[in-house]
Amino acid sequence: MNPFLDIDRLAKSFGQVKVLQDLSLQLAEGEILALLGLSGSGKTTALRLLAGFETPDHGRIVVAGEEVTGQRPAQRGFGMVFQHYALFPHMTVEENIAFGLDAQGWDARRRQQRIATVLELVDMASFGGRRVSEISGGQQQRIALARALAPEPRILLLDEPLSNLDPSLRERTRQELKAAVQEIGITTVLVTHEQEEAFHVGDRVAVLHAGRLQQLGTPEELYRRPQRPFVATFVGRASTLPGTVTALKSSPDRDLGVDVQLADGVVWQGATAEQVAVGDDVDLIVRPEALRLADDGDLRGKVVDGHFTGVLTYCLVQIPNLGNLEVLVDTMPRPGDRVSIARRQPHLVPRVFRRETTEG
Ligand SMILES: Nc1ncnc2c1ncn2[C@@H]1O[C@H](COP(=O)(O)OP(=O)(O)OP(=O)(O)O)[C@@H](O)[C@H]1O
Ligand SMILES: [Mg+2]
Repeated sequence: MNPFLDIDRLAKSFGQVKVLQDLSLQLAEGEILALLGLSGSGKTTALRLLAGFETPDHGRIVVAGEEVTGQRPAQRGFGMVFQHYALFPHMTVEENIAFGLDAQGWDARRRQQRIATVLELVDMASFGGRRVSEISGGQQQRIALARALAPEPRILLLDEPLSNLDPSLRERTRQELKAAVQEIGITTVLVTHEQEEAFHVGDRVAVLHAGRLQQLGTPEELYRRPQRPFVATFVGRASTLPGTVTALKSSPDRDLGVDVQLADGVVWQGATAEQVAVGDDVDLIVRPEALRLADDGDLRGKVVDGHFTGVLTYCLVQIPNLGNLEVLVDTMPRPGDRVSIARRQPHLVPRVFRRETTEG
């Protein structure tokens, strides 16, 4: 099947800096894609290229079989909620939403109907006459969404639409945003630096790092089978242990089973999608829930920190010569306690990557 939105090797440099390098993504019609990355990874640049506010150095953007790369923003028929660009504060909610419709020459009756429809969609039906300065930040966010959706765009681009909300409000607004976008079934790219937001809203998640796509997959694929070390540590909690490959095993899925020696007599099994060989220096990346404190564990260390999240408790254990290991525990041990760590079986297999060399 042909993708609805086809982004093909899109690249952009500012001066000498390659901000986006050959980004390729394909979205099905109605799909919600979350573009996840650290600050400065190129997320806004990618969105501005899609919207037509920047011109790519090379690459193509195709929507429903039609190339739009050379088109001006208004021609593309995309809706956008900007990262820092808020509403017009001196205008009413209705006037804000009407703004884009007037530019497109909607007649008065159709315009009023459309405003009512999108206000209903974001659950703000009775707020049309309010000034923007008289509604809360969360409500403003919903109006920004309503304004972007009003002209019936074929694609919706959202740049960190929830980032200036309080954490408590953010989660609720996130859920409402997802519901609204799903209800109209619009193809959406949501930019965020928050993994939780990406996992909650995105059907699939694209992880961007330093202008390069690291991995594209469902939240579960990214969590269970990260293909790059950056993804393994950025998505979810994880600790990294250095080791050496002692044996390779075939495995039922596409990954290769790897035995990694962490210390004398301590060999843990991992899995990798990379080409590794016996004797290679590797990093083994393990999730805290795949570990437990045990009397007979094979790694010994000292508790250095604890972290109670309200639901789960993590403890950080310093292992001599290996580093710090985060373990999911039931009750918090005391800092300074000597503990030993075993793997929980069966559980998520640790991921193995060739050691990143940190030259120059
Ligand atoms: N117009 C520009 N001129 C020069 N450099 C730019 C320009 N726009 C962005 N950059 C640089 O490109 C890089 C990526 O910026 P971008 O805004 O795309 O990142 P981002 O992932 O959206 O970050 P954030 O999460 O902080 O919003 C940064 O190093 C930034 O300084
Ligand atoms: Mg940005």
